[in-house]
Amino acid sequence: MSAMTSGDYVIRAIRADEWEAVKRLRLVALRDPVADIAFLETYDEALERPDSFYRERAARSAAEPSDARQFVAVAADGEWAGTVTVLIEEAGTTDWAGFPVERRQGHVVGVFVRPEHRGSGLVKALFDAGVEWVRERGAERVRLLVHAENPRAQGAYRKAGFVPSGVLVPFFKDEAETEVEFVLEWPA
Ligand SMILES: CC(C)(COP(=O)(O)OP(=O)(O)OC[C@H]1O[C@@H](n2cnc3c(N)ncnc32)[C@H](O)[C@@H]1OP(=O)(O)O)[C@@H](O)C(=O)NCCC(=O)NCCS
Repeated sequence: MSAMTSGDYVIRAIRADEWEAVKRLRLVALRDPVADIAFLETYDEALERPDSFYRERAARSAAEPSDARQFVAVAADGEWAGTVTVLIEEAGTTDWAGFPVERRQGHVVGVFVRPEHRGSGLVKALFDAGVEWVRERGAERVRLLVHAENPRAQGAYRKAGFVPSGVLVPFFKDEAETEVEFVLEWPA
């Protein structure tokens, strides 16, 4: 398995047998003060899911080929400090919001860095790993959605090279709120 280092962290894809650590980090993320706007799932929903859900999630990420991959940043003491997941969206399909997907692209979800590891550039290193993975699979760009009222996440995405595409989407949990699409594109 390929791994990169970033400062004191090793950035790598998760293994299929790491589903319990996947669940643990997800539950920490869902306790974050901005979890309501950052994630679609609630803490209670995540807690109640059967082990099989997390086993399947980890196995899907580790499968080859796969349409989804979760990356983690592992700190020197072995703790998972942060994570991103990248999904491949195929041209000609319709996304979860009903919009057509025009090009093969990556979609970043589940972005989280533990508070004590923030501001370290870790999120950029995680994004770099995710972007490399989708580029190797022929994606032409990467996108993500971020809540309009989540300026810290937006700041992190800009630092990782993403820019707003101009597309705004009603927030899934409350249509009066807005999510902003950010994209990272590269020359053909
Ligand atoms: C989003 C997240 C992964 C970003 O990681 P991070 O380590 O905090 O990001 P960074 O500190 O490297 O970058 C954030 C940037 O936004 C800036 N920023 C922070 N608060 C800001 C605000 N209120 N307004 C504008 N910019 C802000 C920071 O100054 C920083 O830029 P700088 O390094 O140039 O100073 C992390 O904060 C997190 O896990 N948040 C909770 C979950 C979440 O929101 N996930 C995203 C869901 S879309």
